[in-house]
Amino acid sequence: MANLKDRIDGVRKAFEDAALKAGDAKSLEELRTAFLGRKRGHVTLLFEELKSVAPEEKREAGRLVNELKGFVSDRLQVLEAVVQAPVRPARTIDMTLPGRKRYVGTPHPLTLFQKEIEAVFLGMGFAIEEGPEIETDYYNFEALNFPPHHPARDSWDTLYIKDDLLLRTHTSPVQVRVMERSKPPIRIICPGRVFRRETPDPTHLPMFLQVEGLVIDEGITFAHLKGTLEYFIRALFGEKIKVRFRPSFFPFTEPSAEVDIECIVCSGKDASCRVCGGTGWKEILGSGMVDPQVLKNVNIDPEKYSGWAFGLGIDRTAMFAFGIPEMRYFYENDLRFLRQFGTK
Ligand code: PHE
Repeated sequence: MANLKDRIDGVRKAFEDAALKAGDAKSLEELRTAFLGRKRGHVTLLFEELKSVAPEEKREAGRLVNELKGFVSDRLQVLEAVVQAPVRPARTIDMTLPGRKRYVGTPHPLTLFQKEIEAVFLGMGFAIEEGPEIETDYYNFEALNFPPHHPARDSWDTLYIKDDLLLRTHTSPVQVRVMERSKPPIRIICPGRVFRRETPDPTHLPMFLQVEGLVIDEGITFAHLKGTLEYFIRALFGEKIKVRFRPSFFPFTEPSAEVDIECIVCSGKDASCRVCGGTGWKEILGSGMVDPQVLKNVNIDPEKYSGWAFGLGIDRTAMFAFGIPEMRYFYENDLRFLRQFGTK
């Protein structure tokens, strides 16, 4: 038995030495045959020798030989796996591949569109004015000729902060503030955020952008309103765009008109168009001659001066300009959408 134990240790040592040198599939194959080969493998021969071990020692001797066999076959398996693992090719650089594109941040599409609108009016000699987003009832409604509790207030779904304080529902209060502090001639536009209690849908949002305009001077007529707005709309949408003026009502203008442009998304051809509802027209702005009462409220003499005003939804108009069927896309901050603007 002592003799067999020495032989077992010897075979293990011989295997370990040989395994260190076996570096490829072929030499591992030879190693497997030399130690585990069916007839003449060193480990196999040890099993033969077990037969001549004394019966009381057989158990222990068998365990040792089996253990050696397990060791040898496990080690061979690991080495074979190592040798078979695919070798990574050296890294090469393909000079013909296009470079990786880095995206440069650009202004938001609505900001770009607002600037475009501003540029048209700046070109006609208008100035840009801004005002607070939180307004008093007076500036948002009363000065604009909405008496308290007047039903016209209902069409501006107002978000109130307190009885007298609200989120402005239009940028018309900026016009009142400007008229209060300056003398005619006045020629301004006021872009900014406005808020209404609306359920979002493709063309309505609870917060959106408006630009309003105001002209006050001697001898201003509805013809000026029409000419200026038509010029503006054609500057934005091209000479061929169809425009129509429809009689309307606003408490602060008399007479009043709403302006529609043809639906750029469906051109009136899709009866189920989600943007124009199949009418082929979409309202983009409200306008009118400033009501004499509004001029009186800000101490401008309506006998001497007259004026016109308009208010336009920037988001909604941008939808048309860019041919987008969903106003909500502008606010979802999906880079795949936003990256399509600004870099030409
Ligand atoms: N303030 C109006 C609105 O928000 C738009 C408008 C402005 C209409 C000026 C007429 C004149 O709907």
